[in-house]
Amino acid sequence: MEAAGKEEISVEDEAVDKNIFKDCSKIAFYRRQKQQLSTKSTYQALLDSATKGKDSTKFQILNEATKVPLLAEVYGIEGNIFRLKINEETPLKPRYEVPDVVTSKPRTVRLISSSGDAGSLVLADGKGDLKCHITANPFKVDLVSEEEVVMSINSLGHLYFEHLQVPLKKRRRMDEHGENFNKEIENTKRTHQLKDKITEMRNTLEGISGLDDAEEQISNLEDRATKENKEDTSVDASQENQEDLGLWEEKFGKFVDVKVNGPASIGLDFSLHGFEHLYGIPQHAESHQLKNTGDGDAYRLYNLDVYGYKIHDKMGIYGSVPYLLAHKPGRTLGIFWLNASETLVEINTEPAVKYTLTQMGPVAAKQKVRSQTDVHWMSESGIIDVFLLTGPTPSDVFKQYSYLTGTQAMPPLFSLGYHQCRWNYEDEQDVKAVDAGFDEHDIPYDVMWLDIEHTEGKRYFTWDKKRFPNPKRMQELLRNKKRKLVVISDPHIKIDPDYSVYAEAKEQGFFVRNHEGGDFEGVCWPGLSSYLDFTNPKVREWYSSLFTFSAYQGSTDILYIWNDMNEPSVFRGPELTMQKNAIHHGNWEHRELHNIYGFYQQMATAEGLIQRSKGKERPFVLTRSFFAGSQKYGAVWTGDNTAEWSYLKISIPMLLTLSVTGIPFCGADVGGFIGNPEAELLVRWYQAGAYQPFFRGHATMNTKRREPWLFGEEHTRLIREAIRQRYTLLPYWYSLFYRAHVAAEPVMRPLWIEFPEELNTFGVEDEYMLGSALLVHPVTEPKATTVSVFLPGSNEVWYDSKTGTHWEGACTVKIPVTLDTIPVFQRGGSIVPIKTTIGKSTGYMTDSPYGLRVALSTKGSAMGELYLDDGHSFQYLHQKQFLHRKFSFLSGVLTNSCADKRGHHPSKCVVERVFVLGLKKQPSSVTTHSSDGKEEPVVFTYCTTMATLSLEKLSLNISADWEVHIK
Ligand code: NOJ
Repeated sequence: MEAAGKEEISVEDEAVDKNIFKDCSKIAFYRRQKQQLSTKSTYQALLDSATKGKDSTKFQILNEATKVPLLAEVYGIEGNIFRLKINEETPLKPRYEVPDVVTSKPRTVRLISSSGDAGSLVLADGKGDLKCHITANPFKVDLVSEEEVVMSINSLGHLYFEHLQVPLKKRRRMDEHGENFNKEIENTKRTHQLKDKITEMRNTLEGISGLDDAEEQISNLEDRATKENKEDTSVDASQENQEDLGLWEEKFGKFVDVKVNGPASIGLDFSLHGFEHLYGIPQHAESHQLKNTGDGDAYRLYNLDVYGYKIHDKMGIYGSVPYLLAHKPGRTLGIFWLNASETLVEINTEPAVKYTLTQMGPVAAKQKVRSQTDVHWMSESGIIDVFLLTGPTPSDVFKQYSYLTGTQAMPPLFSLGYHQCRWNYEDEQDVKAVDAGFDEHDIPYDVMWLDIEHTEGKRYFTWDKKRFPNPKRMQELLRNKKRKLVVISDPHIKIDPDYSVYAEAKEQGFFVRNHEGGDFEGVCWPGLSSYLDFTNPKVREWYSSLFTFSAYQGSTDILYIWNDMNEPSVFRGPELTMQKNAIHHGNWEHRELHNIYGFYQQMATAEGLIQRSKGKERPFVLTRSFFAGSQKYGAVWTGDNTAEWSYLKISIPMLLTLSVTGIPFCGADVGGFIGNPEAELLVRWYQAGAYQPFFRGHATMNTKRREPWLFGEEHTRLIREAIRQRYTLLPYWYSLFYRAHVAAEPVMRPLWIEFPEELNTFGVEDEYMLGSALLVHPVTEPKATTVSVFLPGSNEVWYDSKTGTHWEGACTVKIPVTLDTIPVFQRGGSIVPIKTTIGKSTGYMTDSPYGLRVALSTKGSAMGELYLDDGHSFQYLHQKQFLHRKFSFLSGVLTNSCADKRGHHPSKCVVERVFVLGLKKQPSSVTTHSSDGKEEPVVFTYCTTMATLSLEKLSLNISADWEVHIK
């Protein structure tokens, strides 16, 4: 496949042509860092001159060879977080610091400093159990918790910082003309300092006269300098000789990346003591547990549009979260590397057992040593800004990370239902027929999706008049079934002066610019397009306004949005994306912020949907590209997967990784986007998808139609059953999302989170937990007749959700499966709220009754909760209109009580069914007790062989306090 030809991709071209994309050997800053590190230069911290500011402790770091001073700042942040920032002390011009990701300014805590042994400085948090021990020479930081060094920074000496320089040619020319080079550098720096000062003054004295002039002059000077640098860099022969190092220019195929700022890359190493298990840094089609990276095989974080991405590969795909977690029994740590430029991460684990040769001959002897994992981060530009999350538990780390980047936005309830997508549903007739198909086959679904073909020539915010002549009528049809519509809106805007979105953006200067100063132009679906510069707050504000009902003709309040191609995807660009020297708001090069471009589009879209409802309604926005913090704006999916079993299988670790890095609302295209799944694969995928957070069927163009009823009656039945199970569990899903929203708890969880002390859970990725109550092991093999399910926890008991069979934990059981088995197990000690009646969509289920599935622990007790609200507005937040109930089962009494007294949301719904698993003794009586003392007997069914108790036809109000006594 040729780089140019995204349009020419057909389903036959399934394999990724990796020549379009770089591997590490083609990345110049990687080569430079590797080369430099082999010659080891050291840094020394000047701790004698350390100063303590209001928020941080600052000191200089000097490179032995270059003597260019770096400035390090150490912050203590509330909640057991440390932040280390390293920048040039006086850079030639400011270096990019990622804005808008860290939510509000994190509250700092005062660190108490003391000098350690000679040449060291100790910074302790107030409580004294966490310390940063800084060694001067060579510079190193040890993070100490409870007297144990848990992490060391720069202990391998990989600190790397390319300081900004004046291009060589310019330097030489100045020498020739006898100009004072150092003076020029000083002048440039002074210009930037002045600029900073002006910004500062402007913030305090808005509109003071004279500032504008001064600023303009500086801006002219800067423009001139940039231009000169460009002229210089393009013709410098001596620099061409250094092509290999890609300092000022880097070639990839036919593409040349001219770097006006020259080399600016950074790097740092972290050694995690006693850790062998690391997770995170999505997005890769890789295992959940991070692997050791061999030479030239680093995990790459660079957002790219990779159609049919290869699995078990560390190449960058659509999104990046530069954050990883390390876990061992007793401690979890997080490293959040806040940098939005291209980033590479190397991992090297030395396990706890080493083999050494004994003196006795070539017999290997085992030697027990402490395991260690080294992590080496390298970024193309920006500064070092790293947050160390010290745990100690997994849930502490989730909270610490969410304190910095925010939690999952509370999704509208409909978005947890099933979504039906295809590229494309052809026209209004097609939409109507597919919608009706669901009802005819008694399959619930909530959302119909329209891909790019619904627009007039891929001009977003418009409708193809022939295919969709009356979009409002179509939405009314869906509204009548209490369903929604999602339509696509990509960041590229067709260059067409008659297209109002284009014309307005053009006029206002809202597009990303090319390095010559014109609008950046690239090819995407509509042909030649320009790309909105979402990094500009004004552009975001304007883009948000496009979603108001008056601006977006044909839209109604049941229409929600899908942001795609926002890596951004540029068909004829290098690696199918934007040139790194394109220019964004504030004169920043695209290279500085590439990984955060899509994040900003989703931010603006979500804001637009909130605004169109005057702040009342929760948005739903799906994005393909994402960054740390994208969870605040909606959901994410794993892009263009393939209809093969291996892709179904890899969806689990991919989603687990997103889930632990703060993005719980995630899913993979059910059925596989590319190609045609056979019926068995499609069924298995629906069964897996029903138990994954974002549940959407999707297929590319040219694939055969695959609505759930097209594969014969039996397969239709199986798909219906899988989707119905999803709807049955909606109260549980919604409650889990509430916990994700308020307490940063992942919805879909790797086993190690729930069993953090059990080593044998750390590598599991073919099964997972939903919340803390359900263990799911999707069937991902063709023609499976059994699956081996690992049931963790020596004190646990697990119940098969369908049959009620139980097993004690800490064992692997072989479960027989047929095509209608979805292996789901309920953990003893949990209560799961369900709906007992299923409607056409979530909207029909508001008043339908609840059931409680009580699975007793070995001690005969259980707990659970239910969160509910109106499912769509912000009233839960502003007016506390919600209901949060707590269920417990203790000594034969099932209790429903209030979990959060702040909430008020009276509901008419009743609990009509209770099913108890693991009740060892047949009860003699069952009675209900209301809070006003009323007692009523209940008819019950007890099964001695399965030890289950079933209570039916109850009428216990969900929002009232009551008890059920089982004697
Ligand atoms: C690429 C997306 O990944 C896919 O889901 C979508 O259908 C196509 N773009 C067309 O919009």
